[in-house]
Amino acid sequence: MTPVGYLETGVLYCDDNLHRLAQFPSECIDLIYLDPPFFSNRHYEVIWGDEAEVRSFEDRWEGGIQVYVNWMRERMIEMHRVLRPTGSIYLHCDWHASHYLKQMMDDIFGEPNFQNEIVWYYRGAGVSPRRWARRHDTILFYTKGKDWTFNPDPVREEYAETTKERFSHYIGNVRKGGDFGPQALNPKGKHPDDVWSIPIVAPSAKARLGYPTQKPEALLERIILASSKTNDIVLDPFAGCGTTQVVAQVHHRQWIGIDISPTAVGLMKRRMEKVGAQQVKLVGMPVSEQQLHDLKPFEFQNWVIQRFNGTHSQRKSGDMGIDGLSFMTHDPIQVKQSKSVGRNVVDNFETAVERNGKSKGYIVAFSFTRGAYEEAARAKTAKGIEIELVTVADLLKDVPDLVTPTPSLLAPELPLPKGRAAAELPTVDELIDSDRS
Ligand SMILES: C[S@@+](CC[C@H](N)C(=O)[O-])C[C@H]1O[C@@H](n2cnc3c(N)ncnc32)[C@H](O)[C@@H]1O
Repeated sequence: MTPVGYLETGVLYCDDNLHRLAQFPSECIDLIYLDPPFFSNRHYEVIWGDEAEVRSFEDRWEGGIQVYVNWMRERMIEMHRVLRPTGSIYLHCDWHASHYLKQMMDDIFGEPNFQNEIVWYYRGAGVSPRRWARRHDTILFYTKGKDWTFNPDPVREEYAETTKERFSHYIGNVRKGGDFGPQALNPKGKHPDDVWSIPIVAPSAKARLGYPTQKPEALLERIILASSKTNDIVLDPFAGCGTTQVVAQVHHRQWIGIDISPTAVGLMKRRMEKVGAQQVKLVGMPVSEQQLHDLKPFEFQNWVIQRFNGTHSQRKSGDMGIDGLSFMTHDPIQVKQSKSVGRNVVDNFETAVERNGKSKGYIVAFSFTRGAYEEAARAKTAKGIEIELVTVADLLKDVPDLVTPTPSLLAPELPLPKGRAAAELPTVDELIDSDRS
């Protein structure tokens, strides 16, 4: 793919980063932080925060470590290309693969450009009686070349009391009485070292968005403050719930995020708006029925509920297939990632709506049979229960804010169209009206 010459910031891309990075111009990014899946053979499926969006991401590698490293290598080659000659990169990993990844980084960036192996130490639960408790991640810091930004001042630490006492008789670097001291204490604080003790985002913390690998803002703060300047461009190609972008925004850096999951991108947009980002642009969100059809079921369900500005219902047995609740009125929504949804689905949902004490509900699917429409009409006449049969095509209409298409490579120099401001987003009633018309 030919890289395009125009790079816009304040954008969240929903895409495989390999594909998306290939479209970035060379040498345009000042700082990259990446926190990829860790070769941990785990499968995460969690409920996100208050809104309980179902979220999962695969961290399983068939074919072993070499498959994983090759997968990382092709992405890392692109990251190296897009980094400015003065740029820095921080690769977050852990004991599963850090030794393989360091070799890979040496190959791509060159051994002399290795700067630090940072140990992020945290406390946590869970120990094995057979070995030391595993309590750290590894962050590999490389630069692209010989000159780079490194400003420790904003992240300096307090000296230990014993150090302060030991050096108390030094003023500047001159000992009282005339001798030069071996070293003076810096009034701004101690030069930070490569072991960082920062608490994880606890599952109960307010900041926790429900994602097990969410990284603390304090961790990203150290990296961004030391390794970038105001207005520099910071990229996170495995953006997750957007910690890097949030910290970059708060500290007046430009930012770009990429994540393959539409749910993550939708969540990041809301998180960014909460910290004051204006007109966050989303690129590459699903725009066609086929793309939506191909999404994983939980991604599709989250997409539908986001389109309604609704909330996700907590998973519990006996919920009778209610996947979410509409905005404000909390009417039940059922999501079917299928075509030709028939009479029996409407019939069952009608009972669910009734048992929830509601008189209205929505079923979303790609299409409905004639019997489904007849059943919905019967429910209205016989019981006064209104079941709206909403097609995916209806939800795709008139909602360009979340469905900004990928820019055409034929017009690479053109900036993307602006997304809609939050105030212009459709209300649920407008969305529903658009279904009726
Ligand atoms: C460990 S999480 C990142 C968490 C993030 N640092 C945070 O604090 O929220 C890894 C993320 O990478 C995304 N991901 C996995 N493969 C990807 C790919 N090929 N391109 C873009 N994103 C990908 C997953 O969807 C997941 O959100």
